[in-house]
Parts: sequence; structure tokens; C-alpha cells
Amino acid sequence: MSQPQKGICAEANLHALFLMFNVMEDGENIIRHKLAKVLDIFEHYDEEHYEAMVSGVVAVGTNYWMELYPGLLPNDLAPFPDFSEHDRSAPVVPFDLFIQIRADRADICHAIGIEVCDLLDGNVELVEQVKGFRFLDGRDLTGFVNGTENPKGMKKFEVAIVGDNDPDFAGGSYIHVQRYQHNMEKWNKLAVLEQENIIGRSKDENIEFDSDDRPAFSHTKRTGLKNADGSSMEILRQSMPYGDMKVQGLYFISCAHSPQPFTKMLQSMIVADDDGVYDKFLDYTTPETGAAFFAPSINFIKQHAK
Ligand code: HEM
Repeated sequence: MSQPQKGICAEANLHALFLMFNVMEDGENIIRHKLAKVLDIFEHYDEEHYEAMVSGVVAVGTNYWMELYPGLLPNDLAPFPDFSEHDRSAPVVPFDLFIQIRADRADICHAIGIEVCDLLDGNVELVEQVKGFRFLDGRDLTGFVNGTENPKGMKKFEVAIVGDNDPDFAGGSYIHVQRYQHNMEKWNKLAVLEQENIIGRSKDENIEFDSDDRPAFSHTKRTGLKNADGSSMEILRQSMPYGDMKVQGLYFISCAHSPQPFTKMLQSMIVADDDGVYDKFLDYTTPETGAAFFAPSINFIKQHAK
């Protein structure tokens, strides 16, 4: 099977640098070539600083994909889904390229970021740069452990990586990114039990509430969905907290073998059901960007770089 990019299923890191670029016109040949060079930069740092657990992802915006790789279409490629209802919306903010750099050392993330930007200079505009970090024992800035119900071990690959049903794109991954900003002042005014009901888990011990005890509006009820055959709908979340003393939030990243599960979960968060229930967490955190990407396998990027 084609080799997936290392950063898609990598274990959580201490630091990250998330870079969003738009490509200047008519640079497709050069960009195809340079994306392979970005993979070389990741590999170089991974070898030189093995202890830093370096990993990276190069992902191409679904709107830009057809320009970069004309005639080569992953089966389920689709723009970022557009959902809104009342004061809840998920803004669609497409980017041409998403480069995720992660390591257990902030200096290594920085050094890789500088090399990547130097390499792409002249062909792209850097439109977003966000530093992610691990907070306490893997908690979101709202205080809740994030990622507990993520698939683990080999299951990660099953959930996140395209298989042989789309042979030309096997080893790739559909990626959705949203930058959420939390309203910490409003969140911190809630009693802990109110916060726990919104998430559907206990805060300190991170224990899942029984299904019957979880309110219909809880985040885990709205996103813990089932497929038609009764199996659990799954995505691999690689989100990380970001922020400074003024602005705090979560850089949400979903990786999956199809865009469908993320789309259904986001819809269930935003669009109320027949009982008027939506994800109450959205009263305390707001998505400010939303972009869809495909991260092809290493083999695909290298093969099309020539
Ligand atoms: C501000 C943004 C978000 C925050 C802070 C957040 C936080 C959390 C937390 C604390 C949990 C419980 C522990 C766990 O990770 O299993 C959770 C579960 C989950 N979240 Fe989110 N989340 C966010 C956005 C999203 C979005 C946009 C989606 C998908 C569209 C999503 C999908 C899920 C799923 C599938 C679960 C596991 C549900 C289960 O228990 O089966 N989350 N999230």
C-alpha cells in the first residue's frame, strides 16, 4: 500500500505549527515539485532529531486540488460543508495548502517552519500561522481531556487512511480544519457540573457519563453518531490548543478515509434536530475558519513531483 504521511496518524506531540498558504497563479509545476521537497525537510529533521518525534503533513485544499493535479480526482473530494442555523455557523474559509508541523520541541517546529516558508517563498502567500501546544495532560483549554475516544493503534489507520477502494489515492486522508475560539469568560462562569453536562464527561477524572445521563445537547452525544449498520461513525482528531493571554481556542483537525463522518458530525453540532437540540458547546466556542483538504500519500506526492 502507498505510504501515508507520518503526521496523519502520529501520536500527540507537545508542540505544533499550523501553516495555511494560498498559491500564486500559474505555479502548479513548481508547487508539485516543492511539496515533495517539504517531505524531504520533514524527513531530514526526523532523522537529525529522532528524540523530538517530528512529524508533518502536507495537504492540498479541495478547491485548489483540480488545478494542482488536473484529471486526478480522489473519489470523495468535496468542498468544506456549509452549515448555519440561527446564530450558529461554520464559516467556510478555503486555503490552497495546509502544512502541519509537529514535534516535542518548539525550536524544531520553528526551524522546520522557516525552511518550509523559505522553500515556498515566491510561489505562495502565508495566510495563517498558528502555534499549537499540549496543555496539561492533553486537555483542551476548557479543562477537559480531548482525544480520549480517538481510535488507537492500527485502528487509527483504518479510520484515517483511504484504502484500496480508491486505489490511485490509497494512503491518503481527507482532512478538515477549523480554528475555534473559546469564550473563556462565559465558560468559566458555568458550574463544573454544567460544563460536564455540555461535554458529557466528568472534568477532572475524564470519565464518560452513562448514555442515559448525558443530555441530548452534550457534545459527545451530538458527535457520537452511528452508521446505518449500527457501527460507530469515527474520525481521527489531531486537534491542539492554541492561544495567548487574550485569545484562546482549539485548532480542530479531523483526518478520515472519507469526508462523510466529519460532515455528519458538524451538521449534528450546528443544525438542531426535530426537538430543537444542537450542540450546546457552540454557545461557548465559535469556529472562525473551516477548510477541507486531501493529504495524498508520500508515493503520490513524489510520483507527481517530476
Ligand atoms: C472547540 C472545538 C472542540 C472541542 C474543544 C472539543 C472537545 C471534545 C472533548 C473534550 C471531547 C471528549 C473527550 C474525547 O475527546 O473523546 C470530545 C469528543 C468528541 N468530539 Fe469534540 N471538540 C471540538 C470540536 C469537535 C468537532 C468540530 C467535531 C466533529 C465535527 C468533534 C468530534 C468529536 C467526537 C467524534 C468525539 C468523541 C465522541 C464520543 O464520545 O464518541 N469535536 N470533543
